[in-house]
Amino acid sequence: MKRAWLQHLVAKKLGADAVSIGRSGGETSTFSPPTTVHGHGDYVGTGPTAQPCTARPFEDMPGPRGLPLIGTLLDYTPLGPFSLKKLHESFFERYRQFGKISKETIGNKCFVSVYDPRDIETLFRTEGPNPSWMQLMALGEVRKRLGKPLGMINETGQKWRQLRYAAQSKLLNPKSVSSFVPVLDEISRDFVEKLRTGRSAATLEPTIDLDAELRKWSLESVVSATLGIRLGCLQKHRQIPDKDTEDLLQSSDAFLDTWSKLELGPPLYMLYPTKTWRKFLRANELWLSAAGRMIDRSLDRSESERDPLQPEVTLLEHIVTRKELTPDDVVMIITELIFAGIESTAVAMTYNLYTMAKNQHVQEKVRREVNAVVGKSGKVTQDALKSLKYVKACIKETSRVLPAFSMRNRILDKEIVLAGYRVPPNVIIRVLTHVTGQLPEYVVEPDRFAPERWLRDDTTIPKPHPFAVRPFGVGTRSCIGQRLAEQELGILLAKMIQQFHIECDGEMEQIFNIANKPDLSGTFKFTEL
Ligand code: HEM
Repeated sequence: MKRAWLQHLVAKKLGADAVSIGRSGGETSTFSPPTTVHGHGDYVGTGPTAQPCTARPFEDMPGPRGLPLIGTLLDYTPLGPFSLKKLHESFFERYRQFGKISKETIGNKCFVSVYDPRDIETLFRTEGPNPSWMQLMALGEVRKRLGKPLGMINETGQKWRQLRYAAQSKLLNPKSVSSFVPVLDEISRDFVEKLRTGRSAATLEPTIDLDAELRKWSLESVVSATLGIRLGCLQKHRQIPDKDTEDLLQSSDAFLDTWSKLELGPPLYMLYPTKTWRKFLRANELWLSAAGRMIDRSLDRSESERDPLQPEVTLLEHIVTRKELTPDDVVMIITELIFAGIESTAVAMTYNLYTMAKNQHVQEKVRREVNAVVGKSGKVTQDALKSLKYVKACIKETSRVLPAFSMRNRILDKEIVLAGYRVPPNVIIRVLTHVTGQLPEYVVEPDRFAPERWLRDDTTIPKPHPFAVRPFGVGTRSCIGQRLAEQELGILLAKMIQQFHIECDGEMEQIFNIANKPDLSGTFKFTEL
């Protein structure tokens, strides 16, 4: 098997000897023996570690020394070793330097970086019913200036709960989400057709912009799931998307382009409207008005305009009846769901195509499963999707090696003990499962692309620690779109493997962004089967 691509990724990120640092980083003899977590199979590693009585003070926690007032801020400027575009590499480097837990002050913010899945488990079991994370300042500021509510992504406490519960009663309900399968199958079929006719006859490489078309696929999917309308932006006769679709796609690009610069850089926009800020503001205005018009379009549909493939009650119709929500809340929930659902799912799909291309034996195994369950040209139905277990395992394994998000964070209002150290309240605790998923003490043979590790009945390779790879997060504030995204990915991946033999002549890197952007040095080749 060729796994040079994966070894290259891991070696580059961790350094050849770094993967053995493991549990030695910061662990002391006063550390109580961990209790084993049961019920997850023969995974590597063990359960929660918190033992407050023997914990060491926060001051003892290892970490880079910073300068007074600005901490290690310079490390993340052109004067330092890390670039914002490759911020995820700094997470690997800090692990290499300090081990499984470290603290760092960047500017005026104090971060604790957590890599041990036992600590990740402890954190999520402690976070309580209304978890908080670091506010996205630029997003909060733009909403304030536009007179809009803060939205689910930035809200905390009771208000977050209200917004979240209104939407999750539909979006995380397996029965309700599986009612989207027929329409998602149709959207994926449109994507496959677009690609079939959008390849060079000589090289079989795409002549269409694959990333852009995948974004249309995920936009079409999330709009159909939330609003029950079809944009048709992948259909053959639609050369140019309609104005609202175009506005959403354009503003989403501009939004992503500017958001991370504003969130990660100094907040100069608070002092004067920088060029990046103006672009960001414009993108938000464009986004909100296009999403608003789509919501109107959905509500104004007559019975005869309803798509028979769509569920009878859309998510929008469901939340619009909730008395506790204002009309602005409803618009913001839908707007955020559509936004959060585009880039994340599109990039995850690109990574899946890449891992299939680089692991031909896995691709063949997927094809055998798809042909057995769906046939060589059949539709992916709800029942079929349940049986595509290897497809699901491939999606999970891909998220381990090429995650759409490298980091999540939590802010607790009480002290917690992690890796034997007391962590005070209000510190930003970063959960770095991008790194954890590459560590051999939690994932056996991490440099091997082995979807089998996620199959319940497979005994050829031990199961990873259950908290080592969590692409959608954990707990009450985990991704609300998880089921929808998994369904979208499962359907399209199955259809792609059913229709094409996939190859790729380049290497995949990632660019750190709100969702990690694929940076491929070569091209894909899709040969029709
Ligand atoms: C492969 C695709 C996706 C990935 C990998 C992903 C991953 C994530 C992650 C890691 C979080 C943070 C969880 C935490 O902190 O514990 C999150 C939050 C969120 N995701 Fe996703 N996501 C994906 C697709 C979607 C889709 C399709 C939607 C919309 C339908 C969506 C909507 C959201 C929202 C609204 C939040 C914030 C939830 C809250 O604050 O309560 N995501 N996602």
